[in-house]
Amino acid sequence: HGVVVAIDGPSGSGKSSTSRGVAADLGLRYLDTGAQYRALTWWMIEHGVDVDDAAAIASASLWPRLESGTDPEAPTITVDGRRVDAEIRGQAVTDAVSRVAGVQTVRNRLIELQREYIRAALAEGPGVVAEGRDIAAVVWPVADTKIYLTADQAVRAARRGAENGGADLIKTQADLARRDAEDALTTRPLDAAPGAVVVDGTHLSLADVIARIVEIATE
Ligand code: CDP
Repeated sequence: HGVVVAIDGPSGSGKSSTSRGVAADLGLRYLDTGAQYRALTWWMIEHGVDVDDAAAIASASLWPRLESGTDPEAPTITVDGRRVDAEIRGQAVTDAVSRVAGVQTVRNRLIELQREYIRAALAEGPGVVAEGRDIAAVVWPVADTKIYLTADQAVRAARRGAENGGADLIKTQADLARRDAEDALTTRPLDAAPGAVVVDGTHLSLADVIARIVEIATE
């Protein structure tokens, strides 16, 4: 019987680096659900779907095939066979992703896909670290370990700015505050799910956060 570790939290909380580190330490697969929302958003922009129009998003009839590579050392995402790992981190996708993710048809579809990946990881063996916003609350409420990873907004903005090659801090902070607000508008929970352990990384290094979560998952 495999294990599922759910790591949820807001933008810039260090979820991705943390989740990959925890998966590598525990020998688990890694599933980045945010990358799936981003990849679908990238595809809609490519296909001229008006990402300000919820009805247009919901009715985009020809959906692409999304594939997540779940090696924590080298995660990948493909859309209809095309690798889009770099494209999905661009500004256009970051600006639009919360609106696409706010459409329930999109969520239903991706939640189903995410459950398939988790089931496959459990069938294969040791299990998976799944990272997102709603893993513990919606996607896999029976996760063995549920973590809500957060940090002060200023710290999250500073980290995100550094990741983006020292992007303008004021703009990064504004982007992050906007995305926090947009994400909070949709039905998905931004706060910790019932039973989740809150880990505040504001004053912790990445290595410390990983060690803390590995300890929680194995105790
Ligand atoms: O950039 P950041 O790490 O915050 O975000 P991400 O994990 O790449 O996710 C991008 C966006 O996808 C989020 O801002 C949410 O709008 C959406 N998302 C979601 O709605 N549910 C998830 N399970 C994961 C991401």
